[in-house]
Amino acid sequence: MKRLSIFVSGNGTNLQRIAEYFSDNNNVEIANVVCNNPKAYSIERAKNLGIPLQMITKAEFNSEDFVNEMQSLNIDLIVLAGFLWKIPENLIKAFPNKIVNIHPALLPKYGGKGFYGEHVHEAVVAAKEAHSGITVHYVNEIYDSGEIILQAHVALEAGETPDSLAAKIHKLEQTYFPVAIEYVLKTQQ
Ligand code: GRF
Repeated sequence: MKRLSIFVSGNGTNLQRIAEYFSDNNNVEIANVVCNNPKAYSIERAKNLGIPLQMITKAEFNSEDFVNEMQSLNIDLIVLAGFLWKIPENLIKAFPNKIVNIHPALLPKYGGKGFYGEHVHEAVVAAKEAHSGITVHYVNEIYDSGEIILQAHVALEAGETPDSLAAKIHKLEQTYFPVAIEYVLKTQQ
């Protein structure tokens, strides 16, 4: 049995999709959802999905206790699904190649500090890029720079707006994020 921990800060559409994708897979379970935002709709989703939910403060998140807790839960893969805090080094060291993130653009472009949510799509549209997409990647000490696992592309059309692009990216995420997670679980030691 592979055990996932899903970290969220917002709406949780990726959390929902991942949970549904693996719901009939007896080899994968979501051990918990970790959330840093008391206003996140992800909280409702975790409750409705019946997944144990852990709310965290920044101090708790950056503590050695949190690492120990995650280790005691025997987590095989931490999935950042719209999680907006930087991952502390001790957690990265404790879970080498066991933390993945989804970024709503084609890294290495439009990544790094400040590039999150609509800021990414605004920058892509303003630069008149021909394409954008999603990147699923491992997490290392530097924001958005770990090894790439999967990218999926979508074309920008005439009159594309940050909102219309966000909708396209959302579709790509729903299709490909669970598949990328499944691939990582199958290939990890
Ligand atoms: C997604 O666009 C993801 O790429 C980004 O944050 C958003 C999360 O959306 N990192 P949701 O909370 O899963 O609905």
